[in-house]
Amino acid sequence: MHIFGVDIGGSGIKGAPVDLDRGDLAEERCKVLTPQPATPDAVADGVKQVVEHFGWTGPVGLTFPGVVTGGATIRTAANVDKAWIDMDARALFGERLGGLPVTVLNDADAAGVAEMSFGAGRDRRGPVILLTFGTGIGSAVFVDGVLVPNTELGHLELHGHDAEKRASSKAREDEDLSWEHWAHRVQKYLAHVEMLFSPELFIIGGGVSRKSQKFLPHIEGIKAEIVPAQLQNNAGIVGAAMRAAKAG
Ligand code: BGC
Repeated sequence: MHIFGVDIGGSGIKGAPVDLDRGDLAEERCKVLTPQPATPDAVADGVKQVVEHFGWTGPVGLTFPGVVTGGATIRTAANVDKAWIDMDARALFGERLGGLPVTVLNDADAAGVAEMSFGAGRDRRGPVILLTFGTGIGSAVFVDGVLVPNTELGHLELHGHDAEKRASSKAREDEDLSWEHWAHRVQKYLAHVEMLFSPELFIIGGGVSRKSQKFLPHIEGIKAEIVPAQLQNNAGIVGAAMRAAKAG
C-alpha cells in the first residue's frame, strides 16, 4: 500500500508516496523551500505544490516541528511562525489539498515511528528515545514500541539554557563549534535525559545521523546504547505516511 508523506522542516518541505510494506519512498521525493516567514498560508501552498507534483489524490500524512494534539491542532511553534499556535492544521491542509484526508504529527514523533518499525529501533522493547538534532532538538519516547507523543525533551533546561539552543545542530553551526566540542554538549544533554528516563537505547536522528562518525566516538559515560538513525532524511516522510495509514 502507498500513502503520501510530507515532512515540513525549517528549510524544506519534502514529500513522496511511501511504500508502507518496505517503509521506504515509492518514488523520488520532491522538495520545495520552506517559505520565509513560514506562515500557515505560505506553508500550505508549499505542501500543495509537493502533493500536486505527484498528482496524488489519496490520504496525506504531514509532520510539523511543534506539539500537535489530536492529529490536527498545533500547540507550539518554537522555530516557525507563531501564527501556527492553536491552528487546526488538519483543516488548513485538508482544505488546501481539495478535501484529501489529512493527518498531522510532530516531526520527531514521525521520525521515531518510522525508525521503530523500519530502522534502528526495530524489534527493540523497553524504553527507547529518539532525538533529532537539527534546527531544534526533537524527541520521541517509546516504551515497548508504543509512542508517548509530544515529549519535547529538546526544551529541557541545560545549564540555565533551553537545551536545543546549546546542543542542536544549528547551535554547532552558528557558534562554529568543532565536532568534539559539540559532542561534549550533546553528551551533557544525553546524561540529563538519561538521568530522567534511563532509556535502554538512544537513537540519534536528524541530518547529523549521516555524520555520526564525527561525534559519536567523542561521547562517553552514557549507560544506554547510542546508535545513529537509519532512515536518515526520509524518516519523517515515512512516519507521517504510517500515521495517515493508521488514521484510516
Ligand atoms: C520543537 C519540537 C520539534 C523539534 C524538532 C523543537 O523546537 O519544539 O516540537 O520536534 O524542535 O523540529
